[in-house]
Amino acid sequence: MISVRNFFLKDNLLSIKSLDLDTIMNIIELAQNFKVSKPDKKIKKRNEDILVASLFFQPSTRTRLSFESAVNRLGAKIIGFADGESSRSGSSWNEKFTDTAQMINAYADIAIMRHAKVEPVHNYCIKSRLPVINAGNGEGLNAEHPTQALLDIFTIHQSFPLHKSLTLLLCCHPSSRSARSLLFCIALFHNIKLLLCTEQNCKLLPEDEAYLRQAGVTYEYLRNIKEGLCSADVIYMAGYKETADHLPDSNLMLTPDLLSYLHPRAIIMHPLPRGYELPYELDNSVHCAYFSQAENGVFVRMAILQGYFNVIGGR
Ligand code: CP
Repeated sequence: MISVRNFFLKDNLLSIKSLDLDTIMNIIELAQNFKVSKPDKKIKKRNEDILVASLFFQPSTRTRLSFESAVNRLGAKIIGFADGESSRSGSSWNEKFTDTAQMINAYADIAIMRHAKVEPVHNYCIKSRLPVINAGNGEGLNAEHPTQALLDIFTIHQSFPLHKSLTLLLCCHPSSRSARSLLFCIALFHNIKLLLCTEQNCKLLPEDEAYLRQAGVTYEYLRNIKEGLCSADVIYMAGYKETADHLPDSNLMLTPDLLSYLHPRAIIMHPLPRGYELPYELDNSVHCAYFSQAENGVFVRMAILQGYFNVIGGR
């Protein structure tokens, strides 16, 4: 059994692909520890001189605040900004991310960064001497949200132990950062059957198809969520925002009348914020797992951070 003190993370966490199965299982185990009991006073004392920089260039409710909560619960300290506009690199000054990194090197011990684009976190890392955690970068190729995937897999494990077989119905844009990181994460678990429900002509990126093929993941495309509901243990929805040029697609909506098709133990997950695909009427359903999923973000991020703190505190 892994203890809080002997779990170590030191490299950047930009992609979930950088973690092996053992490390992911250690994070799950530690997160479970933090879910049932608070860190003891000795751990908090060891962490008290550690400073985390929270660099959010794109809005966030869950990721930013659950990281902040995790840092505080672990006894460390956090500095940073919630709005890129209030920084030189996120405002019209356009300071290079490499310069920002050189400043943060002197101000903190670890950096957490979110950006609406894919590249900035990679540019930042060129000059960062600190470990960098990607808290979500852009959409599409090379976009990822690795800590979201970790809290997702933790949430799945709470209901369906990962050593058993399960069917995951993923109903979302397959190149969104949350979907990509989750797909790469489940590629490590060879007993997950994958159903992909997507908008018309909306397929996996060729690079992602190749990755999943090489990892031995098989999947089937569906055009209507109803087709997958009866066999799914986990229904993972993700946000589709209604805009003038993107109108709701009823094939992708989990409307309350569809709940009767679900297996009694099936869970509905969503990284949130929601779009039209997840009506508010589902919130009181026994299948609703998306609020506990968001809560799990705190415990999982505590586990990830403690892995880094064990290295930083030992220097
Ligand atoms: N799931 C997620 O990333 O939510 P936030 O955008 O609120 O952080």
